[in-house]
Amino acid sequence: MSTGKAKEVREMFGRIAPRYDLLNHLLSANIDKRWRRFTVSHLKDVLSRPDSRALDVCCGTADLSLELGKVVPTVGIDFCHSMLVIGKEKVAKRQLDVTLVEGDALNLPLPDTSFDALTCAFGLRNLVDVRGGLEEFYRMLKPSGRVAILEFSQPVIPLFRQLFKFYFHKVLPIIGGAISGSISAYKYLPSSVEEFPDQERLATMMRECGYKNVRYFNLTGGIAALHLGDK
Ligand SMILES: C[S@@+](CC[C@H](N)C(=O)[O-])C[C@H]1O[C@@H](n2cnc3c(N)ncnc32)[C@H](O)[C@@H]1O
Repeated sequence: MSTGKAKEVREMFGRIAPRYDLLNHLLSANIDKRWRRFTVSHLKDVLSRPDSRALDVCCGTADLSLELGKVVPTVGIDFCHSMLVIGKEKVAKRQLDVTLVEGDALNLPLPDTSFDALTCAFGLRNLVDVRGGLEEFYRMLKPSGRVAILEFSQPVIPLFRQLFKFYFHKVLPIIGGAISGSISAYKYLPSSVEEFPDQERLATMMRECGYKNVRYFNLTGGIAALHLGDK
């Protein structure tokens, strides 16, 4: 697992972990919370099945795991110890069935066909092998289970796209760098989004990995997108 990029990504999140939540909410003006709730709302039918369980891959500090945990027993998994430490503190304050474990998204230490819903929020883009991640997620799902990929994407309205790109590439690294102490992490963010497949390419990749009924929603003009696919 410890290829160069994976190690760099893990160390980077380790450095910014103490300020990660603050910056997420500040830099998105709290819109990230709405995006996570929107994600869970599109899983309601699979989460209402008997004995339904959810897996939140690349769970970080567990915000989405906690949203899922309000509905079903949830496992969150991430390979960055420092992010999980913060996540576990948050979980401990709530009476929810949420378990956080350390592990690699590309080699999940869990049995096949175990979960009704699998989420990955702002994690897929960080994987060394995006397609390998989607295949691994597919392995985890029960038949008729659903994957939900919440990820930054490409704004779809031309003028808004230019304004947002200016903010994302020029303003965000300065604020993120000043508060987290790691400007490189907040320069990596926009550049990793540029390299990540856009809405249509990601949907195509999901279909190629075997997901059925693939669809997506642009969120906040396409700053982010929620992709859904069924097994
Ligand atoms: C941008 S954070 C997203 C955290 C959380 N899902 C959220 O919505 O705030 C990305 C997370 O992906 C994790 N990550 C990246 N690559 C991973 C991998 N190969 N296996 C497990 N976790 C990984 C990082 O450690 C980090 O916590």
